[in-house]
Amino acid sequence: MTLWGGRFSIDPDQAMVALSRSVHFDWRLAPYEIEVNLVHLSNLISEKVISENDGKDLKKALLELAQEIGTGKFSFDASDEDVHSAIERGLIAKCGDIGGSIRAGRSRNDLVVTDFKLYLIDHLLEVSVLISELIDALNTQSKIHLKTIASGFTHTQHAQPITFAQEISKHSVALLRDLDRIMDWQRRNSYSPFGAGALAGSPLQPNPENSAKELGFEGVMANSIDAVSDRDFAAEALFILAMIGVHLSRIGEEFVLWSSAEFNYVEISDAYSTGSSIMPQKKNADVAELARGKSGRFIGNLTALLVVLKGLPFAYNRDLQEDKEPVFDSIDQLLILLPAVTGMVSTAKFKTENISKGADVAFSLATEIADYLAKRGVAFAQAHEVAGKCVRYCEEQSIQLHEIPVVELSKIHPALKGDLLDHLNVQAAVSARTSSIGTSSGSVEKSINHIESDLKKVNKEISRIQERFSGMISQ
Ligand code: ARG
Repeated sequence: MTLWGGRFSIDPDQAMVALSRSVHFDWRLAPYEIEVNLVHLSNLISEKVISENDGKDLKKALLELAQEIGTGKFSFDASDEDVHSAIERGLIAKCGDIGGSIRAGRSRNDLVVTDFKLYLIDHLLEVSVLISELIDALNTQSKIHLKTIASGFTHTQHAQPITFAQEISKHSVALLRDLDRIMDWQRRNSYSPFGAGALAGSPLQPNPENSAKELGFEGVMANSIDAVSDRDFAAEALFILAMIGVHLSRIGEEFVLWSSAEFNYVEISDAYSTGSSIMPQKKNADVAELARGKSGRFIGNLTALLVVLKGLPFAYNRDLQEDKEPVFDSIDQLLILLPAVTGMVSTAKFKTENISKGADVAFSLATEIADYLAKRGVAFAQAHEVAGKCVRYCEEQSIQLHEIPVVELSKIHPALKGDLLDHLNVQAAVSARTSSIGTSSGSVEKSINHIESDLKKVNKEISRIQERFSGMISQ
């Protein structure tokens, strides 16, 4: 069923219909569309555009449709162009001609963007809950390893010793920023575009504040032309989802590396691994690899929408129909990926001995020598030079830094004394870094406590927003 026709002399060509059709992907907006229609209907009744009697029939039909959409009894068919035409067809089938009266005072232009925003409010909350669970899993593992010393890397080369808890909890911190971005998105995008009509507002819908409130929004957008054209909210959501994807890809890369025989830091549970069809001994970290690989499509989806929007004239243009599939795909993929990554993290067994083994290799304590001298008044550039000489001496003698005889140390620099040895062990190096951002166990423990209390606040905020939308059909 087309929503237009009066001014057309022939039916649309099949090629046109096939190109134009979006119902196979926008059908998932149906529960939100019913929501918006119900709110719109009550406004049309208040405005006396629809009589109380017709209004009752229409409301009953909409509620029935909501049920039937939920159970799958009502769905789109081959004649439907999009979710909007499908639902209008359903309404007319139940109520006859008055089914078409709900179209008054609204356009698909404001309808589709309202449905879409509600969908995103809802689904970003779902993603938030899953991220919060992943942060919990990371925190639990971190706390087990507050006393585990590991090699810290820069350029994938041994750099300085660290607490392994810090290595894990850095991911919690990054994911917490993602949650913060989602909460910030929720605040900024809690304004309803409904009432914008085609582009100029509608005299049949003089009170968009009512519908905004009933739909759970904080208020109404400021400009009807912007309201139907704005897809910043979708682009921003795609950025946030891409950033989450990038974070997961970095967790994935670590697990791939750490589970290799060379590192042997972690045993990934069989439940989150796959085997090979030919090599019986193989155990592959496929969750980690997919976490790494899926970032490609998250970034692609963001790019796709930004390109659609670039240079697009105002107000609604059909190009905007291309906004939904990238968003649906990013959401769908994350809803699948996040629980798998959480499962992999929470069931992983870290091998403490192997993790700690490499902490002092490759002269990772050389900075301690430079710091020792700097504390004794030697300019750091010079201290750095001296520590470098110590490393060279060790390389020539095939010994470790703590094995340099005291006499040799004082030859390299007179300020190097026997007590340097107290600093040349991984435990001392880690314990010395006690600032709030540092790697000592105490610092990392405090930092994890902060993450946990911030997470509690975000979880409260998630519940508060969920509360605002509870009772809606789409919930
Ligand atoms: N399927 C369309 C979309 O997703 C709905 C809006 C169509 N509006 C229009 N004026 N043709 O954007």
